[in-house]
Amino acid sequence: MKRLSIILLVSLVAVVTLVAKRNQAAGVTFTRDVAPIIFNKCSICHRPGEVAPMPLTSYQEVRPWSKAIREEVAERTMPPWFADPHKSTLKFGNDRRLTQKEIETIVAWG
Ligand code: HEC
Repeated sequence: MKRLSIILLVSLVAVVTLVAKRNQAAGVTFTRDVAPIIFNKCSICHRPGEVAPMPLTSYQEVRPWSKAIREEVAERTMPPWFADPHKSTLKFGNDRRLTQKEIETIVAWG
């Protein structure tokens, strides 16, 4: 009987560990997923001394803005991009727009 409970306990621990690992992999994290996008596509303007109102160069600076960031990104108002892709087939070297995947990553975060 004692042996059975040990086996049960060991299996339970294994299952819990597996589930925890899976959630970790599926969840969007700031450091792994969000930071590279923000630093590449937003920090050029969102840093001290630049045009944008608040700096977005670290977790501490980005976190309080996460809701506004999700909204701006979902509506595609940020990053600003004035060239109209529908009127032109040219590719822009400095294209800062987010890909659909990048938008989904940011929206899923926080
Ligand atoms: C070309 C420069 C530029 C880039 C690149 C840029 N921003 Fe901005 N951002 C601005 C300026 C200027 C403002 C303030 C004026 C406005 O709201 O349009 C602003 C405002 C914002 C606001 C609203 C702040 C408020 O007061 O509510 C958010 C949120 C934001 N930006 C997020 C982002 C995110 C996220 C990115 C990257 C995906 C980004 N921005 C990229 C220039 C930029």
